[in-house]
Amino acid sequence: GESLVRLQAIIARHRGDEGPLLPILHDVQAEWGMIPESAQPVIAQALGMSRAEIHGVVSFYHDFRQEPAGRHVLRLCRAEACQSVGADALAQQVRTALGLDWHETTPDGRLTLEPVFCLGLCACGPSAQLDDRLVGRATADRLVALAGGAR
Ligand code: FES
Repeated sequence: GESLVRLQAIIARHRGDEGPLLPILHDVQAEWGMIPESAQPVIAQALGMSRAEIHGVVSFYHDFRQEPAGRHVLRLCRAEACQSVGADALAQQVRTALGLDWHETTPDGRLTLEPVFCLGLCACGPSAQLDDRLVGRATADRLVALAGGAR
């Protein structure tokens, strides 16, 4: 159907590239928000790779998701400037409070937790982002409250 046509267009766009797999996967994820299981054999066949190879690459890079993200995504900055002002401790508190590890989504599909490398708010770290909203000088309480308010 329609999605197969879109997938084939993405493959065709990168086929001639050197190392076409990662660009294809990035475009697929941009299009569907994930790498659908059903896309993997199509990509494998087009590139003359095995399904296991494609699956291995998708699993290796955490940026590629195999399940859709939650309705809301909370990102915590993991880069250096924020680390120097307590991002690690903050992350630990938030993960515990939400019961989520990195890349996990709540069972109700409401919230996904992701690490991010620099949100451009280095001067007022630790920084976070809930959907489009940037949060500077983040505390666990504030983030958990914001995340809890996002339906
Ligand atoms: Fe965290 Fe830049 S290092 S926002």
